[in-house]
Amino acid sequence: MKAIVVTDQAAGTAGMTLAERPTPLAAINDVVVQIHASGFVPTELTWPSTWTDRVGRDRSPSIPGHELAGVVTALGYGTTGLSIGQRVFSLADWYRDGTLAEHLAIEARNLAPLPGDVDFTVGASLPISGLTAWQGLFQHGRLEAGQSVLAHGAAGAVGSMVTQLARSAGAYVIGTGRAADRQKTLDFGPSEARPVDRLAIDFVVEADRAHSARSSIACGTDDCARTSGPSRRSPMPSPPSTRPSGARGRRSFALGREEVAAC
Ligand SMILES: NC(=O)c1ccc[n+]([C@@H]2O[C@H](COP(=O)([O-])OP(=O)(O)OC[C@H]3O[C@@H](n4cnc5c(N)ncnc54)[C@H](OP(=O)(O)O)[C@@H]3O)[C@@H](O)[C@H]2O)c1
Repeated sequence: MKAIVVTDQAAGTAGMTLAERPTPLAAINDVVVQIHASGFVPTELTWPSTWTDRVGRDRSPSIPGHELAGVVTALGYGTTGLSIGQRVFSLADWYRDGTLAEHLAIEARNLAPLPGDVDFTVGASLPISGLTAWQGLFQHGRLEAGQSVLAHGAAGAVGSMVTQLARSAGAYVIGTGRAADRQKTLDFGPSEARPVDRLAIDFVVEADRAHSARSSIACGTDDCARTSGPSRRSPMPSPPSTRPSGARGRRSFALGREEVAAC
């Protein structure tokens, strides 16, 4: 099969090369997926998991890319809940060959069905930014209806997810961003926009203020902090635990007595 491979960490994206690689087989618990769309971020090339396996052995030449949407073409022994020809999307294992290829072998448990009315390109764009937003809001922030969320960079990959998920959870969403993105941000749901002075942002959008904003959460940039209010359990169901450690840009820290979100 054709795949994009990397062999030299120092070369960065300039070292990405189209090559022939063996088409993967479906090992025990694995599924083979024919890739229709793939997501890649350049910072992957700095992650240790791109270059070594879980015991630290060099695994280059490796195939980058960790988001995918495609169709199941083979089922390994022990796989359940999937069928040949099924549309799926996924966040792929950091430590295995990735999604910039025609086919991928992946554990069945890492796949989710992709509805027929969702394009492959949309499916492949969701996993990392969607899970980042979900984890920041619901796992770390324990967002509940009626609380407030500040989404910095609300027009961006994470911010747009934060805005939509928070609103669907009944939160009051304030978004920040650049003036050129104002309408795009409004299209994600907020119904009001107003300029902001003396800040390094161009606008703030607001919508759906609930009767009581008991605490607030900031998400979407490196400054992601639960800023006040008691800890409460999230009313939302937990997402699939598909994200290994070492994800791009994740961090958590303590701010006073409050747990702080990682976005
Ligand atoms: N994407 C992911 O899956 C992911 C996963 C984990 C962590 N993160 C982290 O989450 C943060 C956001 O990532 P992202 O992928 O959502 O980035 P993104 O798609 O580039 O979105 C960031 C948004 O913020 C805007 N922005 C930046 N500086 C601004 C300023 N001074 N004033 C107003 N708007 C500004 C950007 O506008 P311009 O494009 O015009 O600059 C862009 O719309 C980053 O810290 C990233 O490391 C992202």
